[in-house]
Amino acid sequence: MARKQRATIFGAGYVGLTTAVLFANCGVEVTLVEVNPERLKSLRAGKSFFYEAGINELLQNALKQGSLGLENEAELALKHAGVIFSCVGTPDYPDGSSNLSYVYEVADRVAAFASDDAVFVQKSTVPVGTGEKIEASFKAKSCPVSYVSNPEFLREGTAIQDSLWFDRVVVGGTNPKACQTVIELYKRIEENRDKLAKIAGIPRVDHEPGHYITTNRNSAELIKVTANAFLALKISFANSIAKLADQADADVNDVMDAVGADRRIGRAFLNAGRGYGGGCFPKDVSGLIASASDHGVDMPIMIAASDVNESMPGYIAKKVQENLKSLQGKKIAVLGLSFKSGTSDARKSPGVSLANSLDKGKADVQVYDPHANGEAKEELRNGVKICNTMSEAITKCDAVIIATDWPEFKTADIKSMASKMSGSLFVDAMNCFDKNKVKDSGLKYVGVGRT
Ligand code: UGA
Repeated sequence: MARKQRATIFGAGYVGLTTAVLFANCGVEVTLVEVNPERLKSLRAGKSFFYEAGINELLQNALKQGSLGLENEAELALKHAGVIFSCVGTPDYPDGSSNLSYVYEVADRVAAFASDDAVFVQKSTVPVGTGEKIEASFKAKSCPVSYVSNPEFLREGTAIQDSLWFDRVVVGGTNPKACQTVIELYKRIEENRDKLAKIAGIPRVDHEPGHYITTNRNSAELIKVTANAFLALKISFANSIAKLADQADADVNDVMDAVGADRRIGRAFLNAGRGYGGGCFPKDVSGLIASASDHGVDMPIMIAASDVNESMPGYIAKKVQENLKSLQGKKIAVLGLSFKSGTSDARKSPGVSLANSLDKGKADVQVYDPHANGEAKEELRNGVKICNTMSEAITKCDAVIIATDWPEFKTADIKSMASKMSGSLFVDAMNCFDKNKVKDSGLKYVGVGRT
């Protein structure tokens, strides 16, 4: 591959922006195409519109060295791009299936403007069979661009680390040369990972070398949704066991530590709590159910995983109600509105659902998140009060609920928290506290599957 590589990336979301700033900092000339004018304005000023460690530093460095262009129109950038990435959103329709209109729009632009030898790389999460349809549309338009499926596995909150020290890069397609072009691009990231981590200001990670996996297009598409669905399944399984542990006076953390010590099972994603949220798992589980159904296949196992997950905020609200006798008029602090720590993303956030369900139960709800107050605002019911500090949220509260395991909460002095509260109920909806420490502070500890 020629060393001067030009890439055009569609969509400046978590995946697109991370991909763009990493490539742009290791010798690739990148054009990032984003249609949202506010996002574009913020990016041009060197500021990501979401919080993610290291992303602003990489963005600013790429802008300074002139290797990243930010555009709202792709025509010119497409003509010169060797590799084109689609990283646009695939939101879910009310019936759970994936809305692929942005994906097909990008494919149409590629067919219209890309050069014949370009490689079109699909990083958006799409149902199996999508690439086949796009390839058929390319063929119908006599467009010779090669299609490669290259699903993304980065997690929000650790997006840069996950991309630098990846477990695997998966590429699927019929043209081996096109697949190799994509692999070579990722090798640049691998070769430059220390430099990139330094620019981002994030620590090095001790990690086994990642795998490059080449497969066919449909398998690559299915790998992505299968991985997310399996992780969601593990979480819902842990939450089902947690409900039993609550009844049987067992501690689900101890159970999962021992179960996960079996190398065949593994400890990851067996943390019980308020359930999974975010822009991926809920959507990918419903998308898999819908896509299986389109192929005439039932997925009761994933329907069950989704049902268990949706039950968790209500299950925790019920525990709070039982402990306080009634919710009405009780002052309750919900700490954590992002769907997990390390991100400002509050999409499908269990903390938000919990706050809303307590508000519906006529509690007096106060919420606080170190990074997600702004993004959660629109999702919260009018009665919920957003606070600027943890101290403000918990003062004179009957109960405190930990809904996201932010370091600010985990390292807080529990005795000082207890002294600010008027009640004594401490609900650890992330199961991330030492329950004895909480109890020693005079509070009643209630976890999910551990008391
Ligand atoms: C997930 C996958 O982990 C990534 O590999 C994938 O690339 C990404 O979706 C995607 O499809 O784009 P993400 O949604 O960023 O990443 O976050 P996770 O760290 O996977 O957490 C998802 C949710 O599960 C969070 O709400 C988290 O709190 C919850 N969770 C996670 C649990 O409730 N228990 C656990 O044991 C682990």
